[in-house]
Amino acid sequence: MMKLKQLAKATALVAVLAGAGAAHAGEVEVLHWWTSGGEAKAASALKAQLQKQGHTWKDFAVAGGGGDSAMTVLKSRVVSGNAPAAAQIKGPSLQEWAAEGVLTNIDSVAAAGKWDEVIPPVVANIMKYKGHYIAAPVNVHRVNWLWINPEALKKANAKVPTTWDEFFTTAEALKKAGIIPVAHGGQNWQDFTTFEAVAIGLGGVDFYKKALVQLDAATLQGPEMEKVLTTFKRIKDYTDKNAPGRDWNLATAMVIKGEAGMQLMGDWAKGEFMAAGKTPGKDFLCTAAPGSAKAYTFNIDSFAMFKLKNTANEKAQQDLATAIMSPEFQELFNLNKGSIPVRTGMKMDKFDDCAKQSAADFAADAKAGTLVPSIAHGMAVPAAAEGAMKDVVSQFWNSDKMTAKEAQSRLVAAAKTK
Ligand code: BGC
Repeated sequence: MMKLKQLAKATALVAVLAGAGAAHAGEVEVLHWWTSGGEAKAASALKAQLQKQGHTWKDFAVAGGGGDSAMTVLKSRVVSGNAPAAAQIKGPSLQEWAAEGVLTNIDSVAAAGKWDEVIPPVVANIMKYKGHYIAAPVNVHRVNWLWINPEALKKANAKVPTTWDEFFTTAEALKKAGIIPVAHGGQNWQDFTTFEAVAIGLGGVDFYKKALVQLDAATLQGPEMEKVLTTFKRIKDYTDKNAPGRDWNLATAMVIKGEAGMQLMGDWAKGEFMAAGKTPGKDFLCTAAPGSAKAYTFNIDSFAMFKLKNTANEKAQQDLATAIMSPEFQELFNLNKGSIPVRTGMKMDKFDDCAKQSAADFAADAKAGTLVPSIAHGMAVPAAAEGAMKDVVSQFWNSDKMTAKEAQSRLVAAAKTK
């Protein structure tokens, strides 16, 4: 009799627990633009983390490197009152979205996870609006990299360039050897990424900050910028005719296959090399973009959390934020993504030499004051100015007529876009 009673009690308890579990299981719709090979692998690590906690992942992937298409789709969804739970939003745009009143405060998650202790202050500031966390950071990407196929270099009897002069010598040698010197694609953000690499490598950190972070008109119009634009345009001669319209990961594939010798791209490109089973130092080389070894243009991916109406989904959203900052996720995700963990104090032993270099340089450049936000990847200036400047740079790249001086005047005007 006693036993039966106990059994009934236990069964009731199990039922209650199961019920509680079901009530807590929610759905998280996540907007992102991680659709290339390496990116998709990294995104599935995030999905797995969430599913482990019993929640459902609703994938809202909008293809298009750099995220311009994703941002357009996000705007229309939010305007129609149908925001996803989480969206990949970066840099100053986080502040713009928060000011609209559509993001939710995740301070309780941040306090429980001691985020203030494990997120570098330069990053934490970007994740907070008026002192409250509204987004969770996933990684640190370095943008000023040059990716090289060593076999191609060998064939061309060329060396790894460390200055822009050397870059053009190597490019010329590759061309003579019948190899496309520079793998490039066709979206304006790819042009802007290349432009940014020249700006930091040729102009240096102070110039970069003045021109592309503070948007100082005199610097944008000055002789240094003219040199940067002219050098940037010279690179075009070393790209192939099929570059227009090409996605960045297909450009990376050209370097992987040895059809092209080099690519200027952030370290999400490494995710492609890794997904193709390639080994850094052997099958491909990573080196700082010419002239920029002592600087670091950073690009931090983060997920902004939107206000939701359903409590189960809110719980799932908080669990996603918690998962993002967990050491386990930070390691797995970044091994696939090509970036490094944003969380400090992480062991780097499973990471390759490119990531180790990135981590060491991030720390050194933070100390030296040579860590600068990437303008091409939404970290430096408000989205409106960035978009307008990006367009000018692409028009200059694509035009046979526009002079560097003319592009400079247009950049000054574009920088004022609100
Ligand atoms: C993002 C990366 C992404 C890349 C290409 C960048 O702006 O920060 O996460 O891999 O665009 O899509």
